[in-house]
Amino acid sequence: MKAVSRRRFLKKASQSGLALAASSALGRFGLTQSAPRVTRVVIDSGREIAPIDRHLFGSFLEHLGRAIYEGIYDPKSKFADGNGLRTDVMKEVRNLGVPIVRYPGGNFVSGYHWLDGVGPKKDRPTVLDRAWNTLETNQFGTNEFITWARLAGTEPLFGLNFGTASAEDAAALVEYCNVSKGTKWSELRRSHGYEQPHNVKYWCVGNEMDGPWQIGHMPAREYGIKATDAARQMRVLDSSIKLIACGSSGPFMPTYIEWDRTVLEECYDEVDGISLHRYFGNTEETGNDSSIYLAMNLAMDRQIQEIASVCDTVRAHKRSNKQLFLSFDEWNVWYRARGGEATDGHGKVAPHLLEEPYNLEDALLVGGLANSLIRHSDRVKVACLAQLVNVIAPIMTDENGILRQSIYYPYAWALKYARGRALSIAPDGPGYEVTSLGRPIESTGVTAPGFGNVPYLDIVATLDPEKNTAAILVLNRDLENARDLEIIWHDLTPTGVVTFETISGPDLKAVNTFAEPKRVVPQTLENPKAGSRMSLKLPARSYSVLSLAL
Ligand code: AHR
Repeated sequence: MKAVSRRRFLKKASQSGLALAASSALGRFGLTQSAPRVTRVVIDSGREIAPIDRHLFGSFLEHLGRAIYEGIYDPKSKFADGNGLRTDVMKEVRNLGVPIVRYPGGNFVSGYHWLDGVGPKKDRPTVLDRAWNTLETNQFGTNEFITWARLAGTEPLFGLNFGTASAEDAAALVEYCNVSKGTKWSELRRSHGYEQPHNVKYWCVGNEMDGPWQIGHMPAREYGIKATDAARQMRVLDSSIKLIACGSSGPFMPTYIEWDRTVLEECYDEVDGISLHRYFGNTEETGNDSSIYLAMNLAMDRQIQEIASVCDTVRAHKRSNKQLFLSFDEWNVWYRARGGEATDGHGKVAPHLLEEPYNLEDALLVGGLANSLIRHSDRVKVACLAQLVNVIAPIMTDENGILRQSIYYPYAWALKYARGRALSIAPDGPGYEVTSLGRPIESTGVTAPGFGNVPYLDIVATLDPEKNTAAILVLNRDLENARDLEIIWHDLTPTGVVTFETISGPDLKAVNTFAEPKRVVPQTLENPKAGSRMSLKLPARSYSVLSLAL
């Protein structure tokens, strides 16, 4: 039976309730049945894509909903330290090893005046944030974030207000943060009790300025001119900063590519990178078909290639020596808590906004998205899972503690195992057809192209020469069958298995809750025999990691 017709058959069967019943009867991880053909991959340590920048698996905290207030800052919490910071959340972030966190927005930043959030807390104004219709007390601001970031072992990636603020305001924040002393804004920081500069290296020059929803939304040319002006001012204050221009909010935008090209025509020489954003959902775009949904990380691959091409086209026009890096500084699954009450704060402090519950299939796609970032690590140097706590987040809080949502686990594995260098591989194995997609959730009418033949196994390989370890991360998109993977090591022979774990289960819609926190958690698999040829069996509908000692 051809793969495509088999898939159609299974889809029909699942609609009639047969397939899931059959798959649960096949054992917890669907390990008892195998489709015939094996996927083979040769791994050659000399074939490197790039060193993996640690910033590839950053995250994001916006003044939005309960991300900051109640999430990381909650003086009334039993977990609060002397600064009002939640120590349980901080410990979790520190243990994860999140390398960089984007702050303070997001849409929020385009109406945010950073001066409201510094200095004595009693003097800070309460204002209405117009991005999310939320009351902002400003009890947490620039300096509190830096304190939190240092304690959480992470680096700040600051967003700049390009909506209601000027280029001069942006430069003033750089001066406040990075100039050591002797100027108006650096002395203000010192008077606030921060004698040493914060030395913030990475800066997002605005947020989603292409979007009509953005406060201060403007045409591409205008944005590019303003970004050039701001960048020149900022670099006088600190020549070592890395500036990320605001790219398209995603391929659903009618101005996609055109925005990026125009912006870069203006500011290419002044910036170091450009931002990409993307949220995925099992929606009209995928026809609520989970096998198509699990292929959607290929749309991330495509977006990366397209934006890299625009950057390089502008570079060629300019005869520039400089190649821009890509900053995928918002990516995740987000489609349920996406409108209406989930996005309107009704003028309250810390409302429950964007509290997306994540299920097993979301975790599998997040694993696939991590794979896509790894295989583009030659170009993507910064990326942020959006977001980190309570808002479209792997970590949720209540007054009694924290909950790890399903997407926590693939993110944690990327952080822990995808280290060192990404290797170029060319797996060969069976797949299924995804010829077309529907309308993306944000789009008014544009449909996206399909992917053609989609491999059942989406595989990446990394090698850490310092620790003498290698890792293989595999998404098995086959919803019904375990799949076999044969690994042939060209020039290395693994000496042992450090870990072989999977996220899988019979119910793609299973969700972790505070009442049932362990519905989607990693399970260990039986270790394969280490050696120059290795055979793995990947459970149906799974994301797995194999870590090896070399
Ligand atoms: O992350 C949630 C929102 O999504 C951000 O505020 C915005 O930049 C994007 O549209």
